[in-house]
Amino acid sequence: MLEGIVLVARDVRAMRQLLSEREAEIVRRKQAEAELRGAKASIEDQLEQTRTQLLLSERRATLGTLAGGVGHELRNVAQIQISAVDELRSALERGGDLAAVVAELLPDLARVGDHITEHGGRMMRLARPGPDRVGPIDFCAVVREVVHMLGGAGRLRRHKAVFHLPPSLTVTVNRTRIEQILVNLLVNAVDAMTSAGSITISASERGERVVCTVTDTGVGIPPENLDKVFEPFFSTKAEAGTGLGLPVAREIVQSYGGKLTVESMVNRGTTFTFDLPM
Ligand SMILES: Nc1ncnc2c1ncn2[C@@H]1O[C@H](COP(=O)(O)OP(=O)(O)OP(=O)(O)O)[C@@H](O)[C@H]1O
Ligand SMILES: [Mg+2]
Repeated sequence: MLEGIVLVARDVRAMRQLLSEREAEIVRRKQAEAELRGAKASIEDQLEQTRTQLLLSERRATLGTLAGGVGHELRNVAQIQISAVDELRSALERGGDLAAVVAELLPDLARVGDHITEHGGRMMRLARPGPDRVGPIDFCAVVREVVHMLGGAGRLRRHKAVFHLPPSLTVTVNRTRIEQILVNLLVNAVDAMTSAGSITISASERGERVVCTVTDTGVGIPPENLDKVFEPFFSTKAEAGTGLGLPVAREIVQSYGGKLTVESMVNRGTTFTFDLPM
């Protein structure tokens, strides 16, 4: 009978021992879990930080490319202004019909001012994005005026400009942006021609869009470069080129839901095609 009691007492002690071991185990597990949670949180923190840094550097790269694009366009119009000023100066020195020269160059110079104002606005919108002003304009008139402007800047001098345009074609866009596309394509066309050649600009209505092609009789683009020409900073012009003309133009066309594409044959010439909303 007594032996029985001893046995029970031992049993309880063993149970207590077991219990306290279990409790200690549970505390250990909880600690381990807390440590794991802490480690997980810090890994998540680090991940989040890396993600933020990546976004930031991506944004910086995008901003850099965008700023480069605006700089590129400013240089385009600066060249137009420099030529116009040269022409005015030599007209002044010649002492001929100054009024006629001024009348000829004034619209080009006004356009240069418009471009600089728009580019300034665009630079500011890099910090705080907002939409471009759009409105209906006559695409054919824009084409003729841009060709006039580049002719005035001496960029088209040796070459023949051929127009296949209807009397008018309405597009609903931002005027400066469309002039940028044309300036970049035309300057490239001129650069591609080693001797006197021609540049043909055609436009027509297709469905709800206006489709425009710019064709030159220049050196052409080798097949392996056809995709690369739209990449920012791809240029075969060494010092003379920054490789931003086509990416700028493509970005503008795409912002209007269109496509800018290229077809080319080496030593024959190149055609760029793009479309805009009516
Ligand atoms: N009409 C064309 N004929 C032949 N090659 C062209 C033509 N247009 C573009 N390219 C090729 O595509 C490249 C990229 O053109 P893009 O306008 O982007 O830059 P770029 O003209 O070299 O320099 P930038 O326009 O910045 O002064 C050119 O360097 C040239 O090799
Ligand atoms: Mg170019």
